[in-house]
Amino acid sequence: MAAQDAPMGFGAEGMWDTLAGAWDDRGEWHATVTRELTEAMLESLDPQPHDTVIEVACGPTADIASAVARRPGFTGTIRAGDLSAPMVQAAERRALRNNLDITFLQLDVTELPLKSGSVDRLAARWIYMLLPDPLQGLSEAARVLRPTGSLVFAVFASAAENPFFMVPGAVLAEHGLLRPPVPGQPSMFALADVNGTHQLVRDAGFTSSSVRNVPLTYRLADPDDLWSLVSHFAGPISLAVRSQDEHTRDELRGEIERRAEQFRDGTGYALPGLARIFTASF
Ligand SMILES: C[S@@+](CC[C@H](N)C(=O)[O-])C[C@H]1O[C@@H](n2cnc3c(N)ncnc32)[C@H](O)[C@@H]1O
Repeated sequence: MAAQDAPMGFGAEGMWDTLAGAWDDRGEWHATVTRELTEAMLESLDPQPHDTVIEVACGPTADIASAVARRPGFTGTIRAGDLSAPMVQAAERRALRNNLDITFLQLDVTELPLKSGSVDRLAARWIYMLLPDPLQGLSEAARVLRPTGSLVFAVFASAAENPFFMVPGAVLAEHGLLRPPVPGQPSMFALADVNGTHQLVRDAGFTSSSVRNVPLTYRLADPDDLWSLVSHFAGPISLAVRSQDEHTRDELRGEIERRAEQFRDGTGYALPGLARIFTASF
């Protein structure tokens, strides 16, 4: 299949439903490797005891909503939601297991099923850069927030600051299995530009925004763990890998492992990354 015909990209129909099981399986790992980011987002969110809080695009772990629910003294309302029903179901099961009082709903960040001016704090991790029109999602967040409310969202910094994440995509693109990201289209790095993202936040109706960087380290146990991440967790890359025959998959794995050698840490890997948290208010 030629790269230009590859059914790739974050807009792939049903992609998140397909990946929900793998994201659920890796839920504890992902919560662990992103713990510092979750804590920093909670600090920026600064929920007050009686606030109405929602985490959107919460994935199977709803880490931010869970952190709010665990916050001593919090007695407000917490909701969490995601577009993908299997993601919502996984998050709901996890919250039940952990005895957390969170109400779950299926939702689309571009059309939230919430009244205007009804929310105090809205958290969103790694979603706005994946939308065809990030401004639509940010404007919808602005709509549902009270004038005293705030939005806290995380994006990835540039590809250069998240060097491993470019490796599988580059290998697949070289095999003609993936289109390289096009500027302006949804991608992990679509909101990496700080000034551009501040501008979008203002265009969405917020009057003030601040940003902070949070370094991340994605620790993986061994090459099998690395391959499990690439082939089951990594969005469009995983979908492309899964649709290949065994021979091609072996070739891709070998090349990706070779290029990941630079991130070796003992028997495993320590993949460096950088996320940014934007806090927006009126
Ligand atoms: C990169 S994952 C991030 C999950 C979670 N926020 C985290 O940090 O672990 C993106 C999530 O956004 C969800 N999603 C994609 N498009 C969405 C939309 N339009 N509205 C709500 N959720 C969406 C996906 O189902 C997936 O769970």
